[in-house]
Amino acid sequence: MDRIRLVGGNRLRGELPISGAKNATLPLMIASLLTDQRLTLSNVPRLADVVQLQRILVNHGVGVSLEGRRRGETGMGGQRISFHAADIVDTTAPYELVSKMRASFWVIGPLLAREGVARVSLPGGCAIGTRPVDFYLKGLEALGAEISIDAGYVQALAPGGRLRGGLVRFPKVSVGATHVVMMAATLAQGQTRIENAAREPEVGDLARCLVAMGAKITGIDTDILTIEGVDRLGGATHEVLPDRIETGTYAIATAMTGGDVLLRGARRDLLATALDVLALTGTTITEEPGGVRVARNGNAIHPVDVETEAFPGFPTDLQAQYMALMTRSSGTANIRETIFENRFMHVAELARFGADIRVEGQNASVTGVSELIGAEVMATDLRASVSLVIAGLAARGETIVNRIYHLDRGFDRLEAKLAGCGAEIERLTG
Ligand code: UD1
Repeated sequence: MDRIRLVGGNRLRGELPISGAKNATLPLMIASLLTDQRLTLSNVPRLADVVQLQRILVNHGVGVSLEGRRRGETGMGGQRISFHAADIVDTTAPYELVSKMRASFWVIGPLLAREGVARVSLPGGCAIGTRPVDFYLKGLEALGAEISIDAGYVQALAPGGRLRGGLVRFPKVSVGATHVVMMAATLAQGQTRIENAAREPEVGDLARCLVAMGAKITGIDTDILTIEGVDRLGGATHEVLPDRIETGTYAIATAMTGGDVLLRGARRDLLATALDVLALTGTTITEEPGGVRVARNGNAIHPVDVETEAFPGFPTDLQAQYMALMTRSSGTANIRETIFENRFMHVAELARFGADIRVEGQNASVTGVSELIGAEVMATDLRASVSLVIAGLAARGETIVNRIYHLDRGFDRLEAKLAGCGAEIERLTG
């Protein structure tokens, strides 16, 4: 099993390219199921989750073709991939495929909307708390679907073969449920209104792509989406927006090492809250024509409390990385996780570096220590894993991160990007 070895102490300096967003790419790929025409995505990151989702789509009959590198694209550029679901050959998404990645459950929306029937295994994914699918199912029921659960599978049927528009009000913001109901509504008969919709930029990115495919959606980027169903959608070409979580992760890594890095292609507006928090910790954030520059030159890291929230709040997907930064602050910071119940698994691993963290329920109190010491640690989930890399970059001596398949799910060429900015980091294979 691959591991990462790093030796801490180097300040990150230079330029680091930001990839396309994983959390936008996955629903965009799934949207290809809505049409018999070709959907071409550019700026697609090179990630294990993208490969896994391709397998799932192929199983439903989607033709996937990787297009050659375009002129002028650097080695760090994204991929251009076409998805063509001329015919849906199977409306079942089996356990073996869905259990590997939670987002693959989302195929239920397009399959049901286009074929009138879907049978999808209940999902797996990161072990960050019970992640139910009740909002998805209630949302689809509001669109007329008949739903039953049988032997670990959700069986969904649209009476008469077509969903109809309806009113969906989510009790709590859910990114995935918003994606699914929005996709399903594009082909329903009549109008759908989604209230308390997720406003995460990846939802807006999907909505814009759906509009390019011929969908009628208004209220994009707000918490009320109105979708006028159409009879069919066509093909489109769409560029995936930059990854705000990757941006925030490398911004924190730069702050952690006291470095100075231009995050090329990053957009500040996609993570204004997190970057504002980082500025309060003593990091300088500047927008430049090519991206966002992050620098911390000699300042202490000030402790700043945060609470995770749905967009535009501080993202839960940056909580672990931020906690790593706070382990070196000049005081005590309180971090409150409000989105997931069990998202402090990195705490025990950060403690191996000598971090001082106390957890009580959904709150973690992090008191900065004068030094972290390199350790052998284990990646537990996608974002938690990268918090260990961040700690290792600032720790004295060698760190080994085990089980890095979690990192490969969500971070495009992490070692190469960090090494390109001066980190001493390598992948040990086998
Ligand atoms: C997406 C992101 C993930 C991010 C999360 C929150 C992708 C691929 N994943 O996950 O990286 O951490 O948003 O920003 O985009 N919930 C229910 N019932 C449901 C659905 C959700 O109770 O039917 C709860 C969840 O348990 C959680 C909260 O709602 O407490 C938010 O989850 P949700 O936004 O749905 O997360 P995902 O879409 O799975």
